Amino acid sequence: MGALSATWKKEFREGFEPLVPGFEHVPFNDTDALFAAVDGDTAAVILEPVQGEGGVHVASPDYLPAAREVCDRTGALLILDEVQTGLARTGRLWASERWGVEPDLMTLAKSLAGGVPIGATLASEAVERAFKGSHNSTFGGSALACAAGTAALEVVTREKLWERAESLGNLALERLRGLDSPVIREVRGLGLLLGIELKEKANPYVQALSERGVIVIGGGSTILRLLPPLVIPEDQWTYALDMVSEVLRHG
Ligand SMILES: Cc1ncc(COP(=O)(O)O)c(C=O)c1O
Repeated sequence: MGALSATWKKEFREGFEPLVPGFEHVPFNDTDALFAAVDGDTAAVILEPVQGEGGVHVASPDYLPAAREVCDRTGALLILDEVQTGLARTGRLWASERWGVEPDLMTLAKSLAGGVPIGATLASEAVERAFKGSHNSTFGGSALACAAGTAALEVVTREKLWERAESLGNLALERLRGLDSPVIREVRGLGLLLGIELKEKANPYVQALSERGVIVIGGGSTILRLLPPLVIPEDQWTYALDMVSEVLRHG
């Protein structure tokens, strides 16, 4: 309920209300709005370095440093949600490295165990010392999930998958931005977290790509989101981009 309360999107919230009170949402990449909302009564600021569900919006160069600064000034904690951006996806092991910002808490999940269900919350030592009470769960610390997590982390670091994410991502950005398409409004992203904003609804294109064997996900009604596995063979990535070009070129 706490995590859901921090989520902005109405579709996720409705049906579960009333949620935990005391959360305030501010527009992304608006430093003034952030500064106006955070004061000595603020417990924490929660951000994604690149918004995923929100439509692949990359934090501007000054946004995360500004968030760090206002948190330090007011005593709030900075929580970065790297569930989508972490583990090499954006071209660094942690996306926050790109902004030179260290969070007080970080959330991880998704690729952490290469697809085996796992989630983790990382905390600085100072924050960890403040944890009180019992935070347990039936499957917490599952030996299988943790073994898969250790193996996945070994592969990510040994193969430096952030380098692969960066080069395959740049290739895709260049190709997609060069497309002559009547329906593309904007292409954005970082590494292998890519978004194509369309001038119309994305669903028919999600369907058309699925029929060609390419799975993409929406991210807001007009956005196609591409998050391939970081180990995707180059010929498969080229094929996926060929298919994206094909369906979007014809509008
Ligand atoms: C950025 C982000 N944070 C958190 C979550 C929730 O992760 P989990 O379902 O592992 O709790 C998601 C799920 O899609 C997500 O995209």
